[in-house]
Amino acid sequence: MKILIVGSGGREHALAWRLQQSPRVSEIVCAPGNPGMAQLGRCIPVAAGDVEGQLELAKIERPHLVIVGPEQPLVDGLADKLRAADIPVFGPSARAAMLEGSKGYSKDFMAKYNIPTAAYGRFTDAARAKSFLDRFKPPYVLKADGLAAGKGVIIAETLPQAEEAIDSLLGGRFGAASSSLVIEEFMHGEEASFFAISDGETAIELAGAQDHKRVGEGDTGVNTGGMGAYSPAPILDPAMQKRVMDEIVTPTIKGMAAEGRPYRGVLFVGLMIDDTGPRVVEYNCRFGDPECQVIMPRLKDDPLPQLLACATAGLKDCKRLERFSDHAVTVVLAGEGYPADPKKGGVIGGLQEAASVEGVTIFHAGTRQEGGDIIANGGRVLNITAHAPTLRQAVDRAYEAIDRIDWPDGFCRRDIAWRALARE
Ligand code: AMP
Ligand code: GLY
Repeated sequence: MKILIVGSGGREHALAWRLQQSPRVSEIVCAPGNPGMAQLGRCIPVAAGDVEGQLELAKIERPHLVIVGPEQPLVDGLADKLRAADIPVFGPSARAAMLEGSKGYSKDFMAKYNIPTAAYGRFTDAARAKSFLDRFKPPYVLKADGLAAGKGVIIAETLPQAEEAIDSLLGGRFGAASSSLVIEEFMHGEEASFFAISDGETAIELAGAQDHKRVGEGDTGVNTGGMGAYSPAPILDPAMQKRVMDEIVTPTIKGMAAEGRPYRGVLFVGLMIDDTGPRVVEYNCRFGDPECQVIMPRLKDDPLPQLLACATAGLKDCKRLERFSDHAVTVVLAGEGYPADPKKGGVIGGLQEAASVEGVTIFHAGTRQEGGDIIANGGRVLNITAHAPTLRQAVDRAYEAIDRIDWPDGFCRRDIAWRALARE
C-alpha cells in the first residue's frame, strides 16, 4: 500500500517511521516531509497548509491512505476534499475538526453532552467579558476561539492582567481567531494527553502521554509547542484510561455522530486530572507533537489496519492495538532563542553516533539538508526518542544520545519526565 503523510514535523516523521514497519506498506510519500522522512519515503514540496496543492498531489499519487498530521488543513477541509475525491483519509472533516478549531464550539458541545470540563462563558463584547471575571478567582483563563498557533490561551494572574488580555484578544491580537473569546474556570490538577482513534461510531484507545509545555526546567518560562514527552503516563493507569474512555471519549464520539459531524481520525483529549477524576482542558483533532513520537514506538501491533478502518468506517471489527510494556521518552532539541526567535543555520553533527545508542531513534522536525549536512532550520529541530524497559533507562538513553550531538546553537530541557521519575 502507498501512504501519503501530510506534514513535516517530528509527529509526521514518527508516523512515517512506524508505518514503514508495516508489512502492508510498500511506499511512503511525504508532503512536504523533512530530511528524516526523506530516508523513509519520497518527499514532495507541497506545504501542509496548501489544501488545494495537497488535493492535487493526492489525485496524482492515488495513495491507499492519507494521514493528515497538523490541525490547520483539517480545519480548512482537506479531509472533506479527499473523501469527495474518493481518497481514503485518516482525519476528521472540517465540521468535526471544529472540536479543535473553535474553543467556543467545543465548550458548548461538552455542555450539551455532559462531558466534564471547566465552567465557562463565551464573549464578543469586552465589557460583558470583564464583568464575567467576577465569577472566578485568579488565575483567570482566557482563550481565543479560533486557531492561534498554540498561543491563544492566556492565564492571567491578576484581574487587571485579565482585563488587559480581554482588550488585546478582542482588539484583534489573533485577528478573526480572537474576535470571540472563551473565559473559563482555572482547573487544578495534573495534565495528561490521551489519544483514541475513531471511525465516527466506534472509538478505541491508543495510549496516554504527558508532555512538557514550558520552555524551562521545572516547568518554568513561556509555553511552547512541547519540549518533551513520555508514555505511559503514570496518572493514566488502566482504571483512569477506562474512565476517560467512558466519561469523555465515548460520549464525544456519540455526541459528534448525533450532531451529524461523525469524527473520523485521532481524538487527542487534553486532560486535567484531580481527585474527582478527569476533565477536558481541550480537544485536538490530530496527534500531539511531541506525544506522537512516544506513542508510535510503543505500538506493538501494526497500526495500519486500524487507521484504514477509521478512514472507511470499519473500526467495529478491529481490536485494540497491543502496546509494548516499555517506556518511551522524547526530548526536543530546539534552536537557542526558541520559541520567540530560534537560531537557524548551524550544522548539526554527531547524529549517527547519537542514533547508535541502544533504543534511540531520532525524529526530525525543523531541519534541512544541504549536501551531506543537516542544518538547523528553526523552532523545534530534533526529537531524541528512546525506549527501554524502565522510564529511568529510557531517559538516560535519550540524554546519552543528546550528549553525542554536536550543535552549539541547540538546547533542550534536562528534566524531561521529572514528574513520573519522582513517582517511581
Ligand atoms: P490549550 O491550548 O487549551 O491546551 O491551553 C494551553 C495550556 O493552558 C494547557 O495545557 C493548560 O496548561 C492551560 N490551561 C488551559 N485551560 C486551562 C484551565 N481551564 N485551567 C487550567 N489550566 C488551563
Ligand atoms: N503537545 C501538545 C500539542 O500537540 O498540542
